[in-house]
Amino acid sequence: MTANTENQPVTVFHVVAGVASAWALYRIIALFRPKSRHSLRSAAILVLGDIGRSPRMMYHAQSFAENDFMTYVIGYGGSKPISALERLPKLQLRYLPEPPSVLKALPFVLFAPLKIMHQVASVLCELLISIDEPPEYLLVQNPPSIPTLALVWLVGRIRGCKVIIDWHNLGYSILALKLPKTHPFVRISKWFEATFGRTAYAHLFVTEAMKDHLVKEWGLVGEKIVLHDRPPKHFRRCSAQDIHDLFSRLTPTLPKHKSLTNFLPEFQLPYSTLMTDRTRPSEGATPTLNMDPVSVTAPIYENVQPPCLRRDRPALVVSSTSWTPDEDFGILLEALNQYERRAEDLAHSDDKKRLPKLLMVVTGKGPEREYYMNKITDLEKNWRWVRCLSLWLEAEDYPKFLGSADLGVCLHSSSSALDLPMKVVDMFGCGLPVCALNFQCLPELVKDGKNGLIFNSSDELAEQIESLLISFPSTQRLDALRSSLISTTRSTDDSQNGAHEWEWCSWDENWNRTLKPLLLR
Ligand SMILES: *[C@@H]1O[C@H](CO)[C@@H](O)[C@H](O)[C@H]1NC(C)=O
Ligand SMILES: *[C@@H]1O[C@H](CO)[C@@H](O)[C@H](O)[C@H]1NC(C)=O
Repeated sequence: MTANTENQPVTVFHVVAGVASAWALYRIIALFRPKSRHSLRSAAILVLGDIGRSPRMMYHAQSFAENDFMTYVIGYGGSKPISALERLPKLQLRYLPEPPSVLKALPFVLFAPLKIMHQVASVLCELLISIDEPPEYLLVQNPPSIPTLALVWLVGRIRGCKVIIDWHNLGYSILALKLPKTHPFVRISKWFEATFGRTAYAHLFVTEAMKDHLVKEWGLVGEKIVLHDRPPKHFRRCSAQDIHDLFSRLTPTLPKHKSLTNFLPEFQLPYSTLMTDRTRPSEGATPTLNMDPVSVTAPIYENVQPPCLRRDRPALVVSSTSWTPDEDFGILLEALNQYERRAEDLAHSDDKKRLPKLLMVVTGKGPEREYYMNKITDLEKNWRWVRCLSLWLEAEDYPKFLGSADLGVCLHSSSSALDLPMKVVDMFGCGLPVCALNFQCLPELVKDGKNGLIFNSSDELAEQIESLLISFPSTQRLDALRSSLISTTRSTDDSQNGAHEWEWCSWDENWNRTLKPLLLR
């Protein structure tokens, strides 16, 4: 050994201690090191949150498992995951334990670090010990960045897994919504994200804008792939029969107060719903509806037809919001107020054109819901043309509801301006055009005038809703938007009419085409 004796005298003790600690370290690492480097065709997916509320990670898991990867999904329980995750034989859900409830009684300064320590221990325990064959790939969602990125980086080193970071958004930018940009927490969080997120086998991005930004700012190392969100295959436009079934099911859950029942058209289950009718329209008003539905006598049988959409249905407009301050629900409320006035004016004018009654349904839960719903109840006392409901839909009803609606509204504004709203992706999957609040990278998804409209203010939103719903149910402009959505959903390879004009496909197709080649290389 040729130690440089000029600077520091090297004693035998130093050498022995050095060799011994290197050997000990090697043994510790070797403990975790697989005999063969890693088992091929396996993947661990880490979500430091409720698995059932992380659709993109669930779709990833499904795609891995359908492509013959042994797939472990590690995250917290809470809501029910999509059924594919429970059905696929090659997929294992591994739930992390919640932090002990005694911790929650502690003040935040104590609770936060203890919670993180608990997370670190439980994640490492899963990734290093419970999964005994080291997975080939380790896919992690960011944010949350702390402590996940560091853990995944460490596990990647120890077990030789290829780390894939799925950049949904930037963790520090979400923190910066609550704290000033220069706050030490924001800086630490940014440093952490940039340090541990910089190097990976591959980086996935939800938008081109995010890729460009991170490549430029942080100099990411590894493969870089934009994997836009796409809806799963079963998201589609509903038939009149689907709509009839859905509303037969939902009607009992609607609020019973007079202001709503007087607003909606009359209906009688199971023959008609507020949207559909299966009695022959030509027979005149409500034929033989109070007869016993079981006795299928000839006259009733003749009167019962496959359901069709009724012409006097309200226009169904849907928005899903998290009811947080960064999604300004006030914009929608103001637009609805303007719509009400416009509809009333038109009803009294000589103009032949009329606006329909508008039933606004808002899905989602969140802190500002109470506040706005109270405001709406007040406003509705003077409204004749608009009602607004807040509904909670089961996971399997959600795509059906979108597939039944006439128009979607998106108020998403992004903390980083680099991510896109998944709810618009869902709406497009269900053939539902949207009006979406403008922000920087929105045009990557919403093509103004093609699959939806982009607004900057409540005035513009009100104008757009009016222009789309005028003369409902014969709505030319809306129909044009919808048909461009449905036709592009069908045709996957549309390269001859303008390459990047407007590509659309299902999550599987996109995944198979974009990510799979990298994984099977
Ligand atoms: C919204 O603002 C953007 C840029 O500020 C502009 O390009 C766009 O035309 C505006 N949209 C409408 C509908 O006016
Ligand atoms: C994606 O690949 C998997 C596995 O080869 C296959 O089962 C699936 O049908 C493919 N999906 C599409 C939409 O091509």
